[in-house]
Amino acid sequence: MELAEKRIALGVTGGIAAYKSAELVRLFVKQGASARVAMTRAATHFITPTTFQTLSGKRVFTDLWDNTVDNGLTHISFSREADALVVAPASANFIAKVANGIADDLLSTLTLARDCPLLLAPAMNRQMWKNPATRRNIATLRADGVTILGPADGEQACGEIGEGRMIEPEEILEDVVAFFQPKHLAGKKALITAGPTFEMIDPVRGITNLSSGKMGFAIARAARESGAEVTLISGPVNQPTPRGVSRIDVTTALEMRSAVLRQASGQDIFIAVAAVADYRPEAATAHKVKKDASAPPTINLVQNPDILADVVALPDPPFCVGFAAESQNLAEYAEKKRRAKKIPLIVGNLIQDGFGGDENTLVLFDEHGQTPLGPAPKIRLARKIMERIAILLKEKNHATY
Ligand code: PMT
Repeated sequence: MELAEKRIALGVTGGIAAYKSAELVRLFVKQGASARVAMTRAATHFITPTTFQTLSGKRVFTDLWDNTVDNGLTHISFSREADALVVAPASANFIAKVANGIADDLLSTLTLARDCPLLLAPAMNRQMWKNPATRRNIATLRADGVTILGPADGEQACGEIGEGRMIEPEEILEDVVAFFQPKHLAGKKALITAGPTFEMIDPVRGITNLSSGKMGFAIARAARESGAEVTLISGPVNQPTPRGVSRIDVTTALEMRSAVLRQASGQDIFIAVAAVADYRPEAATAHKVKKDASAPPTINLVQNPDILADVVALPDPPFCVGFAAESQNLAEYAEKKRRAKKIPLIVGNLIQDGFGGDENTLVLFDEHGQTPLGPAPKIRLARKIMERIAILLKEKNHATY
């Protein structure tokens, strides 16, 4: 559960996206959080308090002057019991009020009176979002330390197309989970490879492996959650890009190498999670290889360059992390690989655990020794790896490996 024991106060303002906030409450609760909802009057025109009460299991607040609240101070107590106040959707009007400290209803008053972080998911027509007044208000809120989630670009309820849509509930959830992660790598830039490579034999066949990309994508997500600016270079996989991560898709090892070397300058961290094919056919045939009953075809293989080794050999290399998938003798082979590749950290996993699944069992090898991790979901392991990288980066002696 990604939000175990977190207490989320959810504000809902008047906009058609308000109906999506019901799903957001469900997602928060499913991830172990408790959710308490406050709505503006306008929001109640789009969705009823009963819906939120049913999903959250808690009373929903709509009125500043509610005399059934014991001390009549809902606006004070609401955020005192919360780890974060999330307002989704946040209308242009609400954003303007918060940016200017206006408190004229329950939600704006409790937002002004809060003593917890504020996250806003704007939702409005594209012209309202582009309006200089909204731009100023958003800039003010950012300067005040408010986190702005989205908005997205796309088709709007009014039929226009542009920026201003509320991001989807799953995306808000991902951003809220990320918000709570420690920012071990704030200000750092991280380059990550993921997935398999696919080496063409002919136009329809190739050499590849069973890497799903799950581990590399989890690493990219965890690096982003830790505050890093992340570039992910991925072989052919079917994984959604983690929020805030910039992704480059490649097919072959040679393409992956070119993309990595193009992006390597200025990176603080390079994490090679990809299962790169060690060999490729010497030349892919232009046409499909025909079946010949008399003799099977021969495929001549040539070695692919070692991308990680090429990054390590750069004049000013980033902090390099390798992965090693072994079928036996994990400790011996992984540590041998770490030394041979001259890298400060290698992440070992057994082939039968690592490929394809949602969970993995890992061992980290660095100059201090071994650290076993898991079994655990890949995202949890990835967060632990970020912690370890942050510690090793602080030691700043990786140049001596
Ligand atoms: O994608 P999943 O299904 O989640 O599976 C994850 C994984 C099992 C693929 C991942 O956890 C993993 O172990 N990746 C490394 C696989 C491996 O064994 O790599 P290797 O021993 O061939 O290479 C060692 C290191 O050098 C790796 O960091 C690799 O990215 C890098 N390398 C290897 C060859 C090459 N030509 N270039 C490289 O950069």
